[in-house]
Amino acid sequence: MKIAIAGKGGVGKTTIAGSLARYYADKGYRVIAVDADPDANLASAIGIPSETEIVPISKMKDLIKERTGAEPGTIGGFFKLNPKVDDIPDRFSVQKDGIRLLVMGSVEHGGSGCVCPESALLRALISHLLLESDEVVIMDMEAGLEHLGRGTADSVNALIVVVEPGLKSIQTAKTIKKLAREIGIEKIFLVINKVKTEEELDQVKEKLIEISYLGKVSYSDKVLKSDIEGFSPYDANSDFVLEIERIARELETQLVEPA
Ligand SMILES: Nc1ncnc2c1ncn2[C@@H]1O[C@H](COP(=O)(O)OP(=O)(O)OP(=O)(O)O)[C@@H](O)[C@H]1O
Ligand SMILES: [Mg+2]
Repeated sequence: MKIAIAGKGGVGKTTIAGSLARYYADKGYRVIAVDADPDANLASAIGIPSETEIVPISKMKDLIKERTGAEPGTIGGFFKLNPKVDDIPDRFSVQKDGIRLLVMGSVEHGGSGCVCPESALLRALISHLLLESDEVVIMDMEAGLEHLGRGTADSVNALIVVVEPGLKSIQTAKTIKKLAREIGIEKIFLVINKVKTEEELDQVKEKLIEISYLGKVSYSDKVLKSDIEGFSPYDANSDFVLEIERIARELETQLVEPA
């Protein structure tokens, strides 16, 4: 199963990605969690201690050079567009209780369209994880879906769009849905986070009836506190864990039902 998580900044993508990774690991699946957000903080949502040193793949200069044949940061030279990546999850991930975390890091200069050795390596790695890995892959993404290209979108079983009550993230969700359709992702699901009242929940659902609803996560001071104190929300609040479980089960149900 390959799950990508997107949504407007601050809606709770990382909180939910980290918790889903914990849920699947608890169920006995082998999980690869991919932090594809340049401002990476999935580690703490999974519960990896903050002291753990994590070097993002995009900063592994020797690895990039060895695999692509070019110095990172160089533009316009010759380098391999399909570098070897299949050993990277084993060798360069940080592990915690059945979860292997890969932190992609950011590629400076030129943004998503940049064709440089480090972006070639990241792209190849993400393609590999989506196309060939037999693990549950959970990707914490930005709103823009930059990392998903046409060739890999097919392998994403579910794109979960997270929204919170309020119009801004709802608008972003609509944009994400459009982008997803353009690159060929059909299975798009909605999770409504930070819900305080039934009324709020119904309002958001009504505005996004076009996206299959999976479930809600209630607003919780304990979840917020876990983030501030640097531990996983999954260890913070049993009601939150139940909501995450409900979402994961609903996802499984909806994925087997014909759309
Ligand atoms: N259900 C919730 N109840 C209370 N606070 C929450 C809840 N979900 C997330 N938060 C808090 O909201 C903030 C943003 O959450 P998170 O980092 O998961 O969002 P994000 O979408 O990944 O943000 P970014 O776009 O910056 O990566 C954090 O402080 C987090 O603890
Ligand atoms: Mg985040």
